[in-house]
Formats: sequence, structure tokens, C-alpha cells
Amino acid sequence: SRNVDKDEDGVLTVAGRSVNDIADEVGTPVYVVDEDDLRSRARDFATAFAGWDVYYAGKSFLCTAVARWVAEEGLGVDVCTGGELTVALRAGVDPRTIGLHGNNKSEAEIELALDAGVGRIIADSFDEIERIGRLVAARGRRERPRIMVRVTTGVEAHTHEYIATAHEDQKFGFSISSGQALDALRAVHTAPDLDLAGIHSHIGSQIFDAEGFAVAARRTLQLHAAFAAETGFEPPEMDLGGGFGIAYTSADTPARPADLAAAMRRIVETECAAHGVAVPHLSIEPGRAISGPSAFALYTVGTVKPVHLDGDAVRTYVAVDGGMSDNIRTALYAAEYSATLASRRSDAGPAIARVVGKHCEGGDILVRDEFLPADIAPGDLLAVPASGAYSRSMASNYNHVPRPPVVAVRDGRISTLLRRETLDDLLRLDVG
Ligand code: LLP
Repeated sequence: SRNVDKDEDGVLTVAGRSVNDIADEVGTPVYVVDEDDLRSRARDFATAFAGWDVYYAGKSFLCTAVARWVAEEGLGVDVCTGGELTVALRAGVDPRTIGLHGNNKSEAEIELALDAGVGRIIADSFDEIERIGRLVAARGRRERPRIMVRVTTGVEAHTHEYIATAHEDQKFGFSISSGQALDALRAVHTAPDLDLAGIHSHIGSQIFDAEGFAVAARRTLQLHAAFAAETGFEPPEMDLGGGFGIAYTSADTPARPADLAAAMRRIVETECAAHGVAVPHLSIEPGRAISGPSAFALYTVGTVKPVHLDGDAVRTYVAVDGGMSDNIRTALYAAEYSATLASRRSDAGPAIARVVGKHCEGGDILVRDEFLPADIAPGDLLAVPASGAYSRSMASNYNHVPRPPVVAVRDGRISTLLRRETLDDLLRLDVG
């Protein structure tokens, strides 16, 4: 991220504070957010997609401070549970700029969204369309929620299967090819208490291939046009989702928001002109591209163990004070990360290393392959860049490990966004 660099002693600093200061003040493991960087990523999307709405996908990382920051930078917030919705509301985000997702929203979650007056609810099944309509009626028709219909475009996104969402054989959305998507649009449009806002498509995450977005946008606009031709009603909005890839390692080459915006605008305009429909009001939902690169995880090395492989090869297993409970992405998706010695300079040569955690299983790997200085030793600090998305937000208490805090640094000031969980926090739940 932009304000992170190593000083003349090889110490990693962020916005004027060294990681040694941060470790002294809050301990490790800890997530360190470069606040200006996160804000400017949000702003870059708002600027590049001017005229569209940009919703920050809260699932990537949400706390009240981050919800406030993105709102201050002109973004809305995409939430997918009552929990995320509550955080966004608690942060003071204007409910009209919040969209509620989720493939199986409970009645309580729908009611919370109706009470708050969220700007849109994204419907994911016929059960849900019926459920929302029924709840609105039961509440005396005080609200008339704006509904988007989540569709699956059949695009095979080039990403890990678990985070691809637009191929046919998965749980999200209404399939366009089977005709269900058109049926869902009709169902919302004719429901007495619902307003049809438009179509929503999200093809998956950590996607670099612009062609996937292009094909999805084309299929979505074709559906939009077909529905307009049949009913004479052009839904006013359309959302093309998130999923824009980021650089976890130097092998990744993400697109700039300005280039993404230019490509997406071109497709939308061409397709709308071809079908003779007006360009709907568009929106997108980036999460990782805003929160991911702006934070690193900071760990303390606890043990260093050389493991002899076939032949003369040695792999150095560097165990840190966190692991799969604070970042499960390597174990779950074979995600790739890098790591760097953060607390000092080393002139030692490189050793083939693997960064592992403290949990009781062999798959507890944070960084599968990295060169680290051969003199890496207990007490050293290690930083894992690009850890701001889907790390803390997917953290668990496996092995009764408390979850790490999240701190932000700006202009030399360290502030806590989420405090460190304690064993007392965990034991409070144990009421047996
Ligand atoms: N919009 C919708 C409807 C989504 O389902 C998602 C992600 C996003 C936006 C934001 O995607 P992003 O821009 O952050 O890629 N845990 C996985 C990612 C799962 C994402 C689920 N939905 C990971 O760690 O890679």
C-alpha cells in the first residue's frame, strides 16, 4: 500500500510509524491498515466510475470505522447478513446507500432491512421474493422495498471454484439460460408490494480476466432488454458486482479502476444501443480491491525449523504467533501470499521458507513458498502484505485462539479499529 516502506534500518514503516512501535503498542498478531491507502482506493473507484454507484463489499472487511471511511469517500455499502447491516447502520451509513445481499436471508434480516429503509434488497430465490412480499404486507405495507434480481450468467470465471459464482452448478442467483431469471424479474415486477430496481450479476472474486466481466455484462444487458421488450418496463438500475483481482504476489497484475471503468462503460453503451434500450443507472461492488492491499498482517516469529527434503534441499519452517484462524485463505483456496522480514535489515542470503501458524494441523500454512533471510530467528517480525480482505473477516477461534486486533495508521497516529479478542471474551460464551 502507498504509505508502507522500509526505512534505512530495513524496518517496515506505515504512515510514519514503524512496525516495531506497533508491535510494542498492541502486540502481535495484528492487522495494520494504512487508512489513507484504503480511502484513496475507495476514492479511485468513485472517481473512475463517476455517474455509477460504488458499493463497498463489507464482507471483505467491515467495522464501523471502515464503513464510515468509505461512506465519507462517497461509496455505499453492500452487506450480506443482519450482522453486516447492523455494523453499517451503527456506523451511521445512510441506509439508502446500503444494499442487502444473501442467498438465504432470514425473516429477521429482511425485517431489519425494512425497518432501516435500505436502498435495495438483492433477491436470490423465488422463496425469498415471496417472503419479502409477505413480510411487507404483514407490516401493513409501510415500505415498498426496491428489489434487484441476482442472476447467474453462466460465465466460468477463472478463479478458485469456491469463489466463482456465475457458473450454473452453484447456489447463487437465478440462471439466465434456464429462463428462471426472466421468471424472477416477472415475479418481482408483478408483486403488489415490491419495486423492481433491476438485475444484479456478480461472477466471482479475484478475477483478472476482463473478458469474464464483458461476457457477463453482455448477457445481463440482453436479459434486461428482453424483459423490457416483453413488458415495456425498463428496470432503472443494474449492478455488475465486484470481484476485481488484487496483487497478492508480484505475479499478479491487477487492472486499474480507470481501465476497468472504461471497458465496462464501453460494453454497456454498445449493448444498450444494439438493443435500443436506455443505459440503466449502473453500480458495482468491489470489496477486496479496496480493503485488501491497504493492510498487512504482522506476526512474531516463534520457532524456526529446518526440514530436510529429498536430496540436500532444506525448507525452513517459520512458525508465527497466528495462522489459519486469522487467515484461512491459503488453506481454503490455495491462495498465494508473500512475506517479508519487517523488524530489521538482514544481509544473510535467502532460504527457502514456508510460513506456518500455531494451529494443530499440517494445513496451517500462511505463505507456502517464500525466500526469507537465512538468519530469520525467533522474535523477528514478519509482515504479510495484502491481508486486508477476507482475513480478519473470516477469522475463527480454532484452538481457542483469540482473534487479532485491527489498527489503522494515519499521519503517524496508531488507532485501534477492532481490539484484540481476549480469552475472557471467549470464556464469556461458555455458560455450561
Ligand atoms: N458482490 C457480491 C454479490 C459478492 O458476493 C462479493 C463477494 C462481492 C461483491 C465482493 O467481491 P470482491 O470484490 O471482494 O472480490 N472469501 C473469498 C471471497 C468470497 C467473496 C464472496 N462474495 C476470498 O477470500 O477470496
